[in-house]
Amino acid sequence: MEPDPEIRLHDKTFVPFISRDEIDFAIARMASQVAADFADDVPVFVGVLNGSFMVVADFVRHYPGPCEVTFMKLSSYEGTQTTHSVKKLIGLNQDLSGRTVVVIEDIVDTGTTLVELKALFKEQNVKHLRFATLFFKPEAYTKDIKIDYVGIRIPNKFIVGFGLDYHELGRNLPEVYQLKD
Ligand code: IMP
Ligand code: MG
Repeated sequence: MEPDPEIRLHDKTFVPFISRDEIDFAIARMASQVAADFADDVPVFVGVLNGSFMVVADFVRHYPGPCEVTFMKLSSYEGTQTTHSVKKLIGLNQDLSGRTVVVIEDIVDTGTTLVELKALFKEQNVKHLRFATLFFKPEAYTKDIKIDYVGIRIPNKFIVGFGLDYHELGRNLPEVYQLKD
């Protein structure tokens, strides 16, 4: 099915930007990269809610080996501007010491969330900590934490769909839309 030529969410209009096929290809590639790096291990994939639920669901379906999946929740975004106050909302209640942990994000923008995540996982005594994100905005990124697996690099413009929202709308869209100028 072709995506709608334009969609309206609250007060804004969005246009098709990244297709279902491109998304699927990028996720499959990330899954093979992780599998190649941790072939002899049983990694724990930690999805960061809410945005990452679709990415994680597809990622683990593409992941060829044994793995565990869990989720945690943080929030740093209101509307189309980062608020720069990241809060931990739902923590991990699982022992991750000695484990290979791959944190899966929907999108990395300024990197503020990533800094918070890194600090939270530092206390967990994990064996390996890796970060994966489906979307990455290199022009907006202001941190120096290495992002180990990047799906698709995108310009510094607001997107919705495939888990990503504009004031909670748009997460259910199977492909990605970009804010119309
Ligand atoms: P950061 O902390 O600035 O990297 O922002 C990360 C969070 O902001 C993501 O987990 C998203 O929830 C949200 N975000 C950043 N860019 C976008 C976007 O283009 N569309 C929707 N949400 C976004
Ligand atoms: Mg959001």
